[in-house]
Amino acid sequence: MENNVLIVGASGGIASALIEQYRSEGAKVFAVSRAAATEISQIQSVSYHQLAEQDDKHISEFVAQLAEQQIVLNTVVITTGFLHRENDGIHPEKRLEDVSEQALAAYFATNSIIPAIWLKHLVNVMSKEGSTLTCLSARVGSISDNGLGGWYGYRASKAALNMFVKTASVEYKRRLKDVMLVCYHPGTVDTGLSKPFQKNVAAKKLFTAQFTAKQLIQHVSKLDRNQACHFIDWNGEVVTW
Ligand SMILES: NC(=O)c1ccc[n+]([C@@H]2O[C@H](COP(=O)([O-])OP(=O)(O)OC[C@H]3O[C@@H](n4cnc5c(N)ncnc54)[C@H](OP(=O)(O)O)[C@@H]3O)[C@@H](O)[C@H]2O)c1
Repeated sequence: MENNVLIVGASGGIASALIEQYRSEGAKVFAVSRAAATEISQIQSVSYHQLAEQDDKHISEFVAQLAEQQIVLNTVVITTGFLHRENDGIHPEKRLEDVSEQALAAYFATNSIIPAIWLKHLVNVMSKEGSTLTCLSARVGSISDNGLGGWYGYRASKAALNMFVKTASVEYKRRLKDVMLVCYHPGTVDTGLSKPFQKNVAAKKLFTAQFTAKQLIQHVSKLDRNQACHFIDWNGEVVTW
């Protein structure tokens, strides 16, 4: 069966590895990025789309184009997210005094709202015959698992993402039947996002993006498809909400 895959955030570390992995498995990959062009855009069997703005208008136009071309997606991975942004001076907060309106707005805009708008529109182009939509979340977005505190904006924005995905999964199941939504914690992966936070991570717990892509594809394929929504980690273990 043909596997049409959409990867959002295509220039990112984990996204790039996912594109390569799906492509090597023979899938047709649609890659969406803010970036004008990357090495990925040169790869055969990857259909590359620059979406400089990821807002309701641009996302809906892109999804409408897929629908016009009668493209039905079997697999979607939304990787969009950020933890620190040097240009804007945004770093994960250590204490309440570090919390700022500007940083909170930025975390929610990228980590919660962009994926939410993708979910809003993608419901119209997902296959009714066995499709899966995964959002890259993070264990720190688990409310029940939060013993350490800190990282207010990132944690809260990933928790909001999880709630949106869980809520959307009810409607996706009602409208598409054989569909499954997944919130996925990839572990600590050696990408630009985790670079400033890697020094306390044991070498064997710092994963390559290639390992991460393989784990994600393998674990998601084994999940119970009767359950509308899952929250799992890089080892295939359930993460409590
Ligand atoms: N690396 C880790 O250790 C780790 C751990 C837990 C969870 N995660 C999650 O895994 C996902 C992928 O992370 P990664 O490690 O691959 O990081 P990455 O290399 O920084 O990739 C993240 C991608 O998100 C997109 N993005 C970032 N800011 C955006 C914005 N303002 N608007 C639109 N798109 C934006 C970008 O894609 P384009 O530039 O191509 O549009 C970017 O390349 C994230 O959601 C992250 O929270 C990562």
